[in-house]
Amino acid sequence: MKKINVILAGWGGYGQFYADVLIRNPHGLEYSFRAVIDPFLREEDKVALDGLNIPYFDDLDAFYAEGTAELVIISAPIHLHRPMCETATRNGSTVLCEKPAAARLCELLEMREYETRYKKNIFIGFQWSFADPILELKRDLLRGVYGRALSGKAIVLWNRDVSYYNRSTGWAGKRKSKDGAYVYDSVASNATAHYLNNLLFLLGDGMDASAEVAEIQADCRRANPIETFDTCVLNIQTAKGQELLFIASHAADRNIDPIFEIVCEKAVIACDFSRDSGLLTARLPDGSSKQYGALNTPEQEQKKIVNTINWLGSAPGVEKPVSTVMTTRPFAGVIDYIFEAIEFKTFDREVIFDRADNRYYVPRLSDTLMDYYNSCECREIIHGL
Ligand SMILES: NC(=O)c1ccc[n+]([C@@H]2O[C@H](COP(=O)([O-])OP(=O)(O)OC[C@H]3O[C@@H](n4cnc5c(N)ncnc54)[C@H](O)[C@@H]3O)[C@@H](O)[C@H]2O)c1
Repeated sequence: MKKINVILAGWGGYGQFYADVLIRNPHGLEYSFRAVIDPFLREEDKVALDGLNIPYFDDLDAFYAEGTAELVIISAPIHLHRPMCETATRNGSTVLCEKPAAARLCELLEMREYETRYKKNIFIGFQWSFADPILELKRDLLRGVYGRALSGKAIVLWNRDVSYYNRSTGWAGKRKSKDGAYVYDSVASNATAHYLNNLLFLLGDGMDASAEVAEIQADCRRANPIETFDTCVLNIQTAKGQELLFIASHAADRNIDPIFEIVCEKAVIACDFSRDSGLLTARLPDGSSKQYGALNTPEQEQKKIVNTINWLGSAPGVEKPVSTVMTTRPFAGVIDYIFEAIEFKTFDREVIFDRADNRYYVPRLSDTLMDYYNSCECREIIHGL
């Protein structure tokens, strides 16, 4: 197996997940953690990196002036993904880029062009598309084990406080960055994006394809003083007529961890992150079931690193990751459409600012959204908040 050079762009925030795994190397992978790219490192970060003997640079060009890397992991703000992918692939690196691939669909298509032009892959870090339970389920769905998938739904309610929106370089909840680049940050495109992408991914026609989208209805609202939205109800119809419901909020009064369900002709597939570490299960009408394993575990979240490094290092028996730029195109299309076509409204219900917790919330919103979710049966979709 080849030993590869890995660099990490974006040290803070979610970058710390990558930093931790790359430094500890709990899976004994063959790589060298070659450098960190981040122009906003704090003094203590620099001291820590010096202690680890890992050099740091302000940008990718500065790194490439003196080194090469087989893999660049991008965990920087959304609007930097496309330009960083261009620099990385042009310099001969494969990329594992955090989700969402880019703000706009046209940028994602440019990223596809970089892959072709520079003959390098860009994988997108939607971790559930690398996780064993999801991949095994998808193989069964594609083999028709459960018949046709008819509908799917997902809900996740995670309140985020004011400091979440004010963190880092000030891009959270923004349409555009200070220098005019598209960000399109929202509850649906960022923290809960996994669960929307996962519905589309599982209903795709191939391992590296997601379901094509035909129609979208969206109710997008904000309780926080942000430009975009912190709460949404999305009704999506796929090109094959499957109906999807996606509900997410950062302004709910009570947190509800991700729950999703896919109704097929011969089974109901369900996962609830608050139970059994998110055990993914297919239940059949005769009372039998198949368990695919727990999804909400550190090991499954780390699969995106493990699989990408092992594939690049030509480890035996390792398949190419399927979470590619084009796999996430339908997800990007949904987000692009929402930002282009939907008016984001402020809540017309009471909004409370909880000074002690430094957060906004809408009283009874969790119950309202959970009731919507529970009452939505196969092919019966509820509109509006
Ligand atoms: N997969 C997941 O579960 C998950 C979870 C959280 C965030 N994310 C994704 O990770 C990405 C980063 O999000 P975040 O919340 O950590 O953001 P953040 O703003 O909190 O942190 C981003 C880091 O990038 C650095 N950075 C800023 N400009 C840079 C530049 N020009 N070059 C290099 N580094 C730069 C910042 O200094 C900071 O250290 C986003 O795409 C987000 O959607 C994924």
